This record gives sequence, C-alpha cells and structure tokens, in this order.
Amino acid sequence: MDEINDPSSQPLDEAPELSLQQFEEEGFQHVNNPIVGMKPIVKKYLTAIKDYVQKDNSFYFSDGEARVEVRVVSDEIIRIRLAPHGVFLDEFSYAVEKPAQRVTVFSFKEDEDNYRVLTNTVTCVISKKDFLISFVDNHEFVVSQDAFPMHWEENTEFGGYYIYCTKQARADESFYGLGDKTTDFNLRGKRLVNWNSDTYSFARHQDPLYRTIPFYLGITNNTSYGIFFDNTFKSQFDFAQEQRDKTSFWADGGELQYYYIHGPHMMDVVKRYHTLTGTHPMPPLWALGFHQCRWSYYPESKVKNIAKNFRDRKIPCDAIYLDIDYMDGYRCFTWNKKYFPDPKRMIKELADDGFKLVVIIDPGIKVDDNYWVFKEGKEKKYFCRRCDDYLMEGYVWPGRCQFPDFTNPEVRDWWGTLFKELTDVGVAGVWNDMNEPAVFGTGTFPVDVRHDYDGHHCSHRKGHNVYGMQMVRATYEGLKKNQKNKRPFTITRAGYSGVQRYSSVWTGDNVATWEHLKLGIIQCTRLSVSGIPFCGTDIGGFSGEPDGELFTRWIQFGVFTPFMRAHSAGDTKEREPWSFGPELEAINRKFIELRYRLLPYIYSTFWEHHKYGFPILRPVMMVEQEETSNHYRENEFTFGDKILVCPVTDYGARKKVVYLLKGDWYNYWTHELLQGGREITVDAPLDSMPIFVKAGSVIPESPLMQYVGEIDVDELMFQIYYSSYEVNSFYYEDHGDTFAYEQDIYLEKKFVVNGDATSMTIRQSIEGLFTPRYETYDLKLICLPFNPSRVIIDGKDYTGSLEVDNLQRVRIKTSKNFRYIQVLA
Ligand code: GLC
Repeated sequence: MDEINDPSSQPLDEAPELSLQQFEEEGFQHVNNPIVGMKPIVKKYLTAIKDYVQKDNSFYFSDGEARVEVRVVSDEIIRIRLAPHGVFLDEFSYAVEKPAQRVTVFSFKEDEDNYRVLTNTVTCVISKKDFLISFVDNHEFVVSQDAFPMHWEENTEFGGYYIYCTKQARADESFYGLGDKTTDFNLRGKRLVNWNSDTYSFARHQDPLYRTIPFYLGITNNTSYGIFFDNTFKSQFDFAQEQRDKTSFWADGGELQYYYIHGPHMMDVVKRYHTLTGTHPMPPLWALGFHQCRWSYYPESKVKNIAKNFRDRKIPCDAIYLDIDYMDGYRCFTWNKKYFPDPKRMIKELADDGFKLVVIIDPGIKVDDNYWVFKEGKEKKYFCRRCDDYLMEGYVWPGRCQFPDFTNPEVRDWWGTLFKELTDVGVAGVWNDMNEPAVFGTGTFPVDVRHDYDGHHCSHRKGHNVYGMQMVRATYEGLKKNQKNKRPFTITRAGYSGVQRYSSVWTGDNVATWEHLKLGIIQCTRLSVSGIPFCGTDIGGFSGEPDGELFTRWIQFGVFTPFMRAHSAGDTKEREPWSFGPELEAINRKFIELRYRLLPYIYSTFWEHHKYGFPILRPVMMVEQEETSNHYRENEFTFGDKILVCPVTDYGARKKVVYLLKGDWYNYWTHELLQGGREITVDAPLDSMPIFVKAGSVIPESPLMQYVGEIDVDELMFQIYYSSYEVNSFYYEDHGDTFAYEQDIYLEKKFVVNGDATSMTIRQSIEGLFTPRYETYDLKLICLPFNPSRVIIDGKDYTGSLEVDNLQRVRIKTSKNFRYIQVLA
C-alpha cells in the first residue's frame, strides 16, 4: 500500500511495533479484522434456574438473564415460552384466539432439584440445575422431556434469534401430524420444513408444500401427546432423524413458544388441539356433495353443457367451478363478458337446475390504473411494500401484480367487501388459490416485504406462512357479512394452524398417478389428525392423464374424503365422470350416488367435528394406537367412527388386504359379518371397494338425489346393524345452510343398539330445537341372528310385515319420536 497517498494510514513513526505473532498471542484473530474482540456467535443454552415468580396461572423462571414462562392453559395443556433476554413478545397468535380460556385447578411444588407445576392430569417438571423441562402423567410416566435446555442463536442479519427445542425420542416413539406432508404417515426418521410453497406436480417426500401446521403428535408406551409450536417463521422439525434418540423443532425467528397437549389417547390430543385453534364451522350441506372443477370451464355454453350432462346422465353433482379464465384478463372480481355476458342469469339458470357456482379468487391484483380493485387498493395503501417502501410487485396470472396485505385487519375488511358483486349475482362459494403467496419466477415474496400482522409489524419472514390463512379469513368473513345468515363456502390452498376456522382445503397440484392416489390417503388422513378436517385431493390428479381405472378408483376414494372435488389442469384432456366410456361412467355414478346416500351420515360426522373436535377421517393407528403394528399403516381409515374403508390404489388390483379394527364389522356390500383385529383379504372388483360398517351402527341414509335439496325428505331412512354388544350412534340435522345451529336450532339424536341371540333393542333420545318436515322413519334392521316374530315400539305391538329380504334385512316403519324398540325372536 502507498502510505503517503492513503489518508487513513498512520504516520510511520506512530505505527504500533507489534508483529502478527504478537497480535495473535494477545487474542486477536486478524490484524485488520474490524470486529476484533467481538465474541463469535454461538448457540446459547438456558443455564441453572436462579429464581421464579408466579402470576395467575403462569410461572416465570429465570436463569439470571433468560426467562421461561410455564402457563397452565387447561388440565391437559401447558404452554412454554422462552425470552432469551427476559422480555416476552406481546401475546398474539393467529392460530390460538384465546390462550387462557380454561384456567383450572393447579398447584406448585418445589424440592431440592425441581420445580413442579401440577394439574389434575399432567405435571410439568422444571429441573433447577439445567432448566430441562419434562411432562409427566399421573402414573409417573415421563411422556416428553427435553434432551437439552432450550437454546437460541442471535440472528445478526435480521435481529432476534433462531430458536431451538430438543427433546428425547424414545426407541418405541412414533410421530404424526404436520399437515399435508407427502412423506410416510409415521414421521419417525424424517426432517421437515414449514414454508408455504407453490409446488406444482409435487412428488412423494417433497417438502415443504402449501401449508404450515406446526403441530405433531407423539406416541410412546401407548401414551399420546401433542406439541403445537405456534411460530409462523420458517420452522423445521426433526423426528429422530439426525439422532435416533432426539426430536427437535426450531424456527428462524419469533418466540420459542409451544403447547404441550396431553393425551393419553391420540383422539384426546386432537380434540384438545381444537380447543386451542378452533374447529371448522358447519359447512353448507351442499358443500358435502360432489363438486366438478376444471381449469377452466368457459364460455357459458361449456358450463351449461357440463351441467346438462350431469343431469341427463343422472350423476349427482352440487357445484361447478370457474377457474381463472372467467375473469377479464385474470383481474379478480371481474368477468370476461365475452365468455360470460350475463353471469347473474347464468347462475340463476344453474341454480334452477340445482347447481352452485364456485369461483376462484387469487391474491395478485393486476397493476392497472383502469381497474377499480387496483385503484382502490392503491389509494388506500393496502398493498404490501418492501423494506425500502417500494411496492411488492411480481408476476402471476394477470401479469404484473401487487398484493393486499391480508395481515392488516382494515385490508381484510376491504377485501371482504369486494365480494359483494359476486355474491349479488349469486356466486355460492369462493376458491382462494396461489396464496402461499405464489409469484412466478421467484416462487414467493422476498423476505424483506413488510406486514402489518394485526399491528405487530413484521417482515415476510414472519408473515409468509400466515398470508394465505389471512386471505381466506378475509374471504370467509366478507362472504359471511354479504350472505347474511348463510354459511359461506371457501376453499384455500395455503394455510396455517387455525385455518380450519375459515376454510376447507385441497392438497394442491397433484399428479394423475397411482402413487398420488396413495399419497392422497396419507395427506388427507394426516391433515385430519393435524386439525384440518375438511380436506380433499384433486380427484383424478391435477396434471397428467389418468386412465379410466385410476379415475374410477380415485372417485371411490373421493367418496370418503370430507371434500369431494374432481379437478384437472388446463393442458389435460377433458375429464368428467363420463369421460372414460359407459362402463366406467356407471361405476362412477354408483359411487357418487353412494356419497349422496351417505350425506346425512357425513353431515352428522361433521357435527361431531364442529361441536366436539373429533377428526372426520381417522387412520386406524389413531383408533388403535395400542397396537404398535398399526403405527406404520397408511391405507385404512374410518370416516367418522362407523365406516371403515380401504381404497384400492393399485392398477389391476381386484383384491385388497385390509386391516379391520377390533370388534365386529359388516361388509357394506354383502352384509357378511366379520371379526376385526386382523387383516383380511377382500374382493375388490372395479365396481366395488372395501367398505365396512361397525356392528351396532345406526347409519342415516338419504334417498337418492341429484343435488342437495332436490327432494324434501318425508321419511328418514336408517340402516341399523345388529350387534351383540351395546353401541351408540349419533345423528345430526339442521337447516343445512344457516347459522341457526349456533342458537341450538338443530336436532342431535342418539341411538343405542344392543342385542343377544333372541332379541335386539334400539333406544332413541333427542336433543335440540329443530323441527324436521318428516314424521316417520323407515328402519332397515340388518343381519338379525334370529327370525323376528314380534316388534314392540314404545310398548305397542308393530303390525307391519317382518319379512327378511335376501340381504338379511327387515324393514319397519316408526314414528320419528320413538323411544324404545324391541325386536324379538
Ligand atoms: C393452480 C391451482 C390449480 C388451478 C390453477 C389455475 O395451479 O393449484 O388448482 O387450477 O392454479 O388457476
């Protein structure tokens, strides 16, 4: 260096007379290093506890600098929070609306080594010397325990900390949950990331996908528990992958905050998770019917033609979808008037024929000063901005777009009002897509984009994973206001825990392969145990071409997904239930009809979810977690608790090995009685699939309809399956499309069936204020082990025929208010 010309250089005579070696000896790393003396960034761990304070149901422990809050949320839920420098972030969560809603009896104990926070069911033990936290049940079984103290690492680029929690993983422990991941159902041995991503034609094991559900369940020693890591930053979970005896979760920022949710049964854990994050509201009944979608049906004549085909061919269907091409240049809330000159008339005509119309709305708003939505959003400053205040712009379907900040409550309200024109012309439901958010080329927003986050301003690092959820929330709330007392129907691709309060979901852009049909089962059952009940796949596979057999097998699976929609990409051949010739059309019809026959059962199951937090789909391992051989099963599941299915997922397969849960089951088709608790081989010709009904079930059945509401039911049908032990069933009904159920305007009926070698009894109890139209029941008593000679209904002899038909059924008619039926040999 030329010292004379360098103004920053010191005069030679003042230069320090130290050699490089001397510098190093004095602890400097490099002579010219400007951060000389700065401590390297290392992970920091909690150290020994110095003190604690209690405030209400929270205990705050400190190691002198960091603080940890242990909060009793309920008898079975304890929340842990870490503040590295002792200061907690403001209480705020999009997933959990009211964290302290169930304060209960608890106590606190201290001994030489530990502090203990005790509820009636679980004890949280905090070790004094190393700050390790564990959860112990009432049998002194340590269900979950830290392997290391919670730790963190400073993030110099953005501020805040990377935060980590590492727990011990037992050799027998299995892991489930985390939403729609396409990996094996049991997550043991997997490492997964949550960062909502547009993943067109995703693959098995691809990760991350569209949604972030940072909630997992563990099972060890037949004891199940859940961990909900309520953190919206990019988060990661390692289930005994890096080290076989450890499970870790960590995030790029935010607070290390998690809920320990006690079981001991997996079902309890899921139900309790729903007490935190809410359940799905009752959907309009029509939304449980069959939906036909395609990218895209246009113009109007095409839509009409599809509708006509359904009705002419007598294939039930409730909803037709319009994908992006219905809009004017993909501008949301507009119509392409060439394709759809009079949407109101068209929608009315479709409605007269029993069809609902669902339209797609994406978040990207075209940059166009002649477009009212853009102009309003721009004037009101509702679009997202970068860190230096530039607007966030990116390309999606309409071209260059800006994006509303749905984490701003004012923007959500505004967004809700935009649906007025759509609902005024009669649109019945809205499909929110591309809301990860997806941006062509770059994938998503850069992380410096700013968000309001309901007043807790943040960057996209924190806002990304909730963007889609807040979009569909704004959509749902807007529709709810516009449609007065009617239940909105929404479907979203992206989401975060709690999204079930606002929307159904589908698993995104899958592929027309047998592997994806198998993945669909895994994804839907996994979503179900992860708190997302109303889910389905693109039946047939979105991209690629299914052959007729694959499509038909997918329709069969679709009957047993809570959300049943066929959808296909724009570059594929047209694909409707009749596209593969008359033989397969007949089978597809038969199965869609089955969906409609089961609607009252499906609806009742939905109520059990909404009201009591039960998942709708239940993988067999959830029902029988005590059987460790079930822990890796991923084909069989029950829909509600009465129907067990095992979709056929292999080309050419005409038989299927099925694990039947313990207890007695009837083959749905043949009424053959089967003993469960074992694998059986079942015939599965293409026009059939393995379906089993639990003995003792009372399954309500709808008369065949082409769409919900086509027929006013004047007699309710029930299939009653004989059982030699007592079994309870529920039936639920209400208006089907209003919120009157929130004022108890519904009926919840409970049936108790029991039997022995010479008799069967059925009891009914009824609760609620809804008055149905029908007066009578048509009961089909199935598989009585004796020939009935006498039936007594509420003390009076039944005088109708007691003939047994070829499917071993006896049919009797009763008043809808019967209390007690005795069937005698
Ligand atoms: C996305 C959606 C897909 C939709 C398409 C066009 O790929 O996932 O369902 O059809 O966009 O809107």
